[in-house]
Parts: sequence; C-alpha cells; structure tokens
Amino acid sequence: MPAPQLVLAARVQAALAAAFGPSYADADPVIRPSQFADLQANVALPLAKKLGRRPREVADEIAAHLDTTGVIADAQVSGPGFLNLTLSDDWIAMQAQRALEDARLAVPVVDRPRKVVVEYSSPNVAKEMHVGHLRTTIVGDAIARILEFLGHDVMRDNHVGDWGTPFGMLIEHLLDLGEEAAARDDASVRDLTSFYRVAREKFDGDAEFADRARKRVVALQAGDPETLRLWRILVEVSQRYFDSVYRRLGVTLSDDHIRGESFYNDLLAPTVRELEDKGIAVVSDGALCAFPPGFTGREGEPLPVIIRKSDGGYNYSTTDLATIRYRVDNDHVDRMVYVVGAPQSLHFQMVFAVARMAGWLGDEVEAEHAQIGNVLGTDGKILRTRAGGTVKLSELVDEAVERAATEFDKIPHDESFDDATRAAIVEAVGVGAVKYADLSVALDSEYVFDLDRMIKFHGKTGPYLQYATVRIRSIFRKGGVDPESATGPIVIGNEAERALALKLLDFGSIVAQSGETSEPHRLAGYLFELAQAYTGFFETCPVLKAPDEPTRASRLALCAITLRTLVTGLDLLGVPTPERM
Ligand code: ARG
Repeated sequence: MPAPQLVLAARVQAALAAAFGPSYADADPVIRPSQFADLQANVALPLAKKLGRRPREVADEIAAHLDTTGVIADAQVSGPGFLNLTLSDDWIAMQAQRALEDARLAVPVVDRPRKVVVEYSSPNVAKEMHVGHLRTTIVGDAIARILEFLGHDVMRDNHVGDWGTPFGMLIEHLLDLGEEAAARDDASVRDLTSFYRVAREKFDGDAEFADRARKRVVALQAGDPETLRLWRILVEVSQRYFDSVYRRLGVTLSDDHIRGESFYNDLLAPTVRELEDKGIAVVSDGALCAFPPGFTGREGEPLPVIIRKSDGGYNYSTTDLATIRYRVDNDHVDRMVYVVGAPQSLHFQMVFAVARMAGWLGDEVEAEHAQIGNVLGTDGKILRTRAGGTVKLSELVDEAVERAATEFDKIPHDESFDDATRAAIVEAVGVGAVKYADLSVALDSEYVFDLDRMIKFHGKTGPYLQYATVRIRSIFRKGGVDPESATGPIVIGNEAERALALKLLDFGSIVAQSGETSEPHRLAGYLFELAQAYTGFFETCPVLKAPDEPTRASRLALCAITLRTLVTGLDLLGVPTPERM
C-alpha cells in the first residue's frame, strides 16, 4: 500500500477501535481515491449495516475519534457516510524529504527475500530472434531488475532452445558449408534465417540429406563427441548473435545465464523414472503420459502431458518437468516466473499441475507463467513483414532508431551535439521507445506495435519520460547546482508542488506491487503520471527564479527527487536515460 494510504488506514483503524471497541482495530477501513480530498475512508457504510445504525452517524463518530495530529489536515463526512481525508502539507513534505535523503528513495527491501528464478528471452539456437522474443526479453529483464531491487535473490535463466531434432539437419548443413564458414563468421552461417531455411529446404527435398540428418540426431542424442563438437559450433554462433541483441537492448542477460534445454538432457530419464515411481506417469497408446486432474478435451476426455513418446523420444514438456525438478532440488528456488508467450499457457498450466502432483511445486514453491501477449501490426493482425514473414527483432530496432533521429530533430535542444554523441542519444531514444512501449501495456494484452506513436516526445512514451529527465537535469546545469546537493528542506507552498510531492510518495509501493505481481506496466504507468505531475509543477513554479530562498531550495529538492525517481524507475524498466538531449 502507498505510504499515504497506509498511514491513513492506521489512523482510521485506531479511531474505529476507540469508537466501537478493540475488535475493530484491524477492520478494513476501505480507503479509496477521492474526488474531494486526497483519499476517503468508506468503512462507515458496511459498518453501519452491521451495527444497525445510520452510516453518517457512524462516520461522524469515526471522525470524532480520529487522531489527526501530524498527518491529517482535514476530515469531512460527506455523502451517505464517506469520510474525506486530506493529508497535511507538512506531513507530505516530511515524507518527501525522507525519500530525498535516502539512497533507496525510501523503498524498503522485502522482509522475506525469496530465491526467484526469472526465466526469460529463451530464443532458439540457429533461429533469428523475432518480435515475440523482443517482448519476453524486455519484460523479463524488467521483472528481474525490479525483484532484485526489492531485495530478492534473483536467478536469471535463459532457457534457450538448443536441443532436439532440428539439430540433425542443422549440423549436416553446417558440414555441407564447411565448418570454416562458421569460424570465418561467413554470412551463410551468420544469417540464421537463411541458414535455417536452407537446411529445412534440403531436408524436405533431398532424401539423402534427410537420411544423414536423422542419423545425426541419433548420434547427438547418444552423445557422440564429434557431433557434440559440431553442435557446439552452432550454439556459439547463436550465442554471439543473442549477445549482440542483449547488448544493444541493454538487457542484463549474459552467457552465464544460459541454461538451455540441452542442459537437462541427462536429467530427463531420472525425472521420468521418478514420475513413474510415483505412479503419475502411465502408458497410454504406447506413450508415457501424465493426466493432471481438471484438464479435459472437447469430449470431456482427460488430456495427457506426453512425457515419453511411443518411439522413446522425450518432449518439450519432459524438459520443462526436469527443469522444475532441478530448480527445486539443486537451486532451491521458491518462486519461478516464466516470461513466455501467452500461446503456451495451457502447456505451462499442465506442466505445473504435473509438477504439483510430483510434489515439486506446492505451498513453499510457486510457479507462475507471466503470459506475454502477441505483438500486432497496425492492421490489428500478428506483426509480419510485408512479405508475410516474421519480423526480425534487429530490423525493428533499426527502424525505431531511424525514426528517433527524425523526431529528435523536431524538439528544442539547449546545445548542439557532435555526430557520435547525437548517434548515441538517438540510439537510446529508439531503444527506450521500443522498450517502454512494450512495458507500458499489461504484459498479457496483445499490443499494437505502432512506431509512429511510441517514438513521439509527447504522450505516454519512453522519449517523453527520457526528455523529462533531461529537462530536469538542464535546470541544474543552468543553475550551476549539483542535484546531489539539493537537500531542501522541502516545503509545500502551492497545489502543483503538493501534487508532485504526493505522487512521489507512491514510488515504493508501486515498485513493490510490480514485483509482487510480475507486472512492470504498473511502474511504467506510474512513471508517466509522475512526469505529468512534474510538468504541471514545472509550468507553474519557477525554480531557479523562485521568489525567495526557502522556496528555491525546496523546488530544487523536488526537482532532484523527481529526477532520481524517474531515473531509478526507468532503470528498473531497463529504459536508458541520456543525460543531455
Ligand atoms: N524457446 C521457446 C520459444 O522460443 C520458449 C521457451 C519457453 N520456456 C520454457 N521453459 N518452455 O518459443
């Protein structure tokens, strides 16, 4: 709960206890946003019903027992029995001052840190990352950063698709090209889209090649050293490419976080054995299956999770089960967040259900699928290239940066930049625009990838927020003041200052909520509201030319804390904030 809400809730509870007896000390005071005050307590309505009295009377009684000292400037009963509460300016100023003086902006670390694995990005080896991976990468990274900031022990996990039958044809194709081609970083290998496509075409059209590919899969699964060596070459080419994408996007994933599907290869058999021993996996139509309760098909027939196919091969689900078992047994995690596309929702529900049957998941260990909605084109359909193909992530970012350059020239600048500086700023704007757009809608909703909108320096966009931080920095630069030395004291002198300070007080609870629910869009939305409150302040309150000294020091302090909150918040989202624009 935000600080203002918490403190008012406590005061109303104390009043309830004083008025109606100690059993009311932890009644829900029903604190809600208010049109006429900062917040309102609506508890009088349900309580009146219970007590058989008139709500307004009950509200009057709460107001009469309310201790307002130091916190509440005004408490008014209104309407059918609402208690409108206005915080005192001094209290708001004091809380803002506290945040200003705290290195963590008064955001507490959690009482009970958990070991959380955040699984995200998870692209496939020898395949280009596409716009779907863009979103799982960006959202996952924000979730990891937020949980870490809150004091959790975060384990990033990039569950790359680096195993399975396609590797037979991919390895054979590599051999046809000659492995020196990979060493030379030849385009035939580096261009993953065409590499995969050509391998596929040969597999479909050339019986001899297809035969070699099949034999190669068998050799790979049997652990043949030469085959594994070739496989590793492919994995490394892809890793270099993933890395380049992560660096460009400013994503905190490195090679150390990769634990691909191949990692679990040796753990599949023991996992399956445990499921058999526990009577969870049973043979059905020749395949080994688990039937988690509650999952049925159209005719009401139980739906299987196939654990071992009738040909003896293991499945995507088997790997996911082995992964859960390993994370619980060896990593001792107590929360798993899977940042993966929404279309895999049923898969995860069923895998989690089987893991629960096996006792790997339970009250102590939680797993959740943070479902990432599809990215749509402006036509409302799944985003595709003009030719109908999947959109390459790198091309999207290139285009965003190009557009950022055009928009950048339209806004006023305090100074002119040399080419390299300008290029770096524009890159940060383009990347920031794409990331913020991805993060500002609820992660499970589909969203329209609309470059026109997201690249603008106004509206709910990354560039608007970046520009807000730059405008604040420019005040300090012009005044020759170091933001670190703006220590206030903060005093509230007018409505705009008050609105800004009050908004600042919500930061901690918003970060906590975003981490709790794995929903970075809450933080993204809050930062926009904060920037708007700042704009309101900036337009009505001269800072460097403030009328008198205590006011000037206070306004500089408000600027300093707003800047730090915006920069910290944007950093938690992974959105870069250039210092000058
Ligand atoms: N590699 C998969 C893909 O690109 C995503 C993996 C999701 N994670 C998992 N544990 N199954 O679609």
